[in-house]
Amino acid sequence: MTELLKANDISRAAELLRAGELVAFPTETVYGLGGDATNDRAVAAIFAAKERPKFNPLIVHLPDAEAARRIVSFDARADALAKKFWPGPLTLVLPRHADCSVSLLAGAGLDSLAVRVPAHPVARELLRAVGRPIAAPSANRSGRLSPTAAAHVMMELDGRIAAVLDAGPCAVGLESTVLDLTGAATMLRPGAITEEQLSAIIGPLAASGGAIRSPGMLAQHYAPALPLRLNATSARPGEALLGFGPAKDATLNLSPRSDLVEAASHLFAHLRALDLPQYSGIAVMPIPDTGIGAAINDRLRRGAAGR
Ligand code: TXA
Ligand code: MG
Repeated sequence: MTELLKANDISRAAELLRAGELVAFPTETVYGLGGDATNDRAVAAIFAAKERPKFNPLIVHLPDAEAARRIVSFDARADALAKKFWPGPLTLVLPRHADCSVSLLAGAGLDSLAVRVPAHPVARELLRAVGRPIAAPSANRSGRLSPTAAAHVMMELDGRIAAVLDAGPCAVGLESTVLDLTGAATMLRPGAITEEQLSAIIGPLAASGGAIRSPGMLAQHYAPALPLRLNATSARPGEALLGFGPAKDATLNLSPRSDLVEAASHLFAHLRALDLPQYSGIAVMPIPDTGIGAAINDRLRRGAAGR
């Protein structure tokens, strides 16, 4: 039985995490599946609950940059980015300190670690209350859509985890931007913090692509059960139509007023709502590739890949 906790029950959630149990909690991006990152058994339980391949490392969540500095080494670029964008939807991949307390399994045995300071007030209060680094991948089963509401977490993980802390829907709706700073700055996953925003602080990024440096870049990911058809102008018979902008025959619309930030916040919830056996597939209208639109299109392409 998975306990559904109210947002004011942070002390219960913290107690469970300190005891090595798994608790899903809200962040501004998506719900995370939290476990004590310093506890090998808790970290192993995260991989088991998600059925996640063990080579795919987890993001470690901290209440502030000071706590992050205790486990990884910051250079001048990391300092500047943390100052500008934390707390917020940016994950930095940095070298682990030799005496880093985080389980090697959390980092999939790599000598780098992904760290992030979330902006959601409930997440920050929880992280402060636990007082330990918390490993938290998105709280979905591996390969599926990330959850942006507590009910989605229950659909994915009910009975597999101790509790879900419910604080309503997530504001951003897409996972954090992941930036690798172990060498030339490289975007591993686009998100709400855009390449333009990052390069304004640290200069141009290295071209991504080529070798897969982050297992999260594997093509098929974020997938509904139904096939996705992208850049559709209308639905074919049997398909649901996911609209963007004015579209009178859309089954659901990401943003009738063509607002990309609003569209991002609805993406996973709308895909989940349309992922029904009554449809043969989901046709998605074109989304401009500017700003957070690049991250939306990244998730849609991955969701559509390999079918
Ligand atoms: O918004 C988010 O980032 C959410 C919330 C819960 O914070 N978390 C999340 O975690 O999306 P997850 O595990 O679903 O995605 C983590 C991504 C994966 O693509 C993983 O491969 C990459 O970060 N990653 C983690 N550690 C890494 C490392 N040391 N080197 C390269 N990539 C890493
Ligand atoms: Mg994920």
